[in-house]
Amino acid sequence: MYKIAVIPGDGTGPEQVREALKVLSAIKDKYKVPLKTETYDLGGERYLRTGELLPETVLEELRQFDAILLGAIGHPSVKPGILERGLLLRLRFELDLYINLRPVKLFPGVETPIRDKGPQDIDFVVVRENTEGFYAGGGGFLRKGTPGEVAVQESVNTRFGVERCLRYAFDYCREKRVRKKLTLCGKTNVLTYAFDLWERAFNEISAEYPEVETDYAHVDAICMWMVKNPEWFDVIVTDNMFGDIITDLGAMIQGGMGIAAGGNIHPGRVSMFEPIGGSAPKYTGKDVINPLAAINSAAMMLDFLGEKEAGRAVESAVSEVCTRLESLSAGRMGYSTREVGDLVAESI
Ligand code: IPM
Ligand code: MN
Repeated sequence: MYKIAVIPGDGTGPEQVREALKVLSAIKDKYKVPLKTETYDLGGERYLRTGELLPETVLEELRQFDAILLGAIGHPSVKPGILERGLLLRLRFELDLYINLRPVKLFPGVETPIRDKGPQDIDFVVVRENTEGFYAGGGGFLRKGTPGEVAVQESVNTRFGVERCLRYAFDYCREKRVRKKLTLCGKTNVLTYAFDLWERAFNEISAEYPEVETDYAHVDAICMWMVKNPEWFDVIVTDNMFGDIITDLGAMIQGGMGIAAGGNIHPGRVSMFEPIGGSAPKYTGKDVINPLAAINSAAMMLDFLGEKEAGRAVESAVSEVCTRLESLSAGRMGYSTREVGDLVAESI
């Protein structure tokens, strides 16, 4: 029996998660995947009500699950940074979820803003390091608030952290991909310490993976090519900050935040799956948000749990439902949030 912690979160998060759970329940019946869920009230609402972000006891409980399904974190009445650092990033760091896996896949029938590109051109995966870099929070102020103010923000790159991320990317490329091409995304021409370490480790490890073709590109060039020649990419591995940025671009070329999913992963330990978009507060309670990103996250979770067939079934159901929606954008799908969830569940 898989134990799943569900964190519906803020804004439209609960509506999205509700549909993902509907789909999981269809999977449970059809594929005999035994799942037990427990819901956790975490997010902006709880913070405003009680001042609590992630109590120690809750964190300890979360460690006991097989996986976590998260809706969205983010509340218009909470100052930026509090929920991000105190809850979302804290979960990633405390649970040591060192991989952020973000597929960029254009499903048939989905509109991409890139002219003349289709599903055969846009199908790659970004492996984002998820516990280091600028996100480690190094740095500080000197003479804050004075004209002589100094702000330093440091990127932390440890050989250990970089290596485990690279190894995950190489393994993923070898085991899950057909083309087996891994591109390191960096900025070796300017960030001459951080990406020197990344590049050396990348080249050393690549010797252990003769089946994997390797390539390097600077992050700015990656942004250019993701738009101009997305078909060049198979798997891209990069640091936390660059991974954050290029996966928003990736989400747009695969049809938008309505579909883009991700997994915060520590292989073999509790891992957390979430839509990569935010809480979209203006759509809260309107039954117009697209739940496919949350449903795709659930598909990734099934795959992570070892339920490959069930994961693939959810993905093909999503793919099929995509061809029936008018658009993937909130409010323009031609169906309500609930109806989209029903379509996926029926398809399964
Ligand atoms: C993401 C988000 C987060 C990040 C924010 C909300 C802290 O943008 O998951 O990509 O920067 O990692
Ligand atoms: Mn982001």
